[in-house]
Amino acid sequence: MRSGTMRRLYRLSMVIASIRAWRSPCRAITTIEGLAQNGELHPLQAAFIERDAFQCGYCTPGQICSAVGLLTEGHTRSRAEIREHMSGNLCRCGAYTNIADAVEDVLMPRIAAKEAAE
Ligand code: FES
Repeated sequence: MRSGTMRRLYRLSMVIASIRAWRSPCRAITTIEGLAQNGELHPLQAAFIERDAFQCGYCTPGQICSAVGLLTEGHTRSRAEIREHMSGNLCRCGAYTNIADAVEDVLMPRIAAKEAAE
């Protein structure tokens, strides 16, 4: 994909994210810089490092923030659903397998724990 197209897609995604945030009742935006707490990486950030889920890192903030959204929304139940919900995030390096592994590492134990509690 040409770099001009990538820039337009990135800008479009930022506009969509801004509109969604503006329409949200809480109207808060958390960026990748806001995920770590007290010097500790968010579990998804740690999983991305553990699973080597990036190459150039260009897409990584968006991938991780989308994965945090999956975690927050809690409607992802399988690897196929993870891939489907994350499909709007493009990775020109093709690190999709490791990205799905990292997201699965964090999401699946939480889903299993939640289902066991119900
Ligand atoms: S790691 Fe390079 S674009 Fe995803």
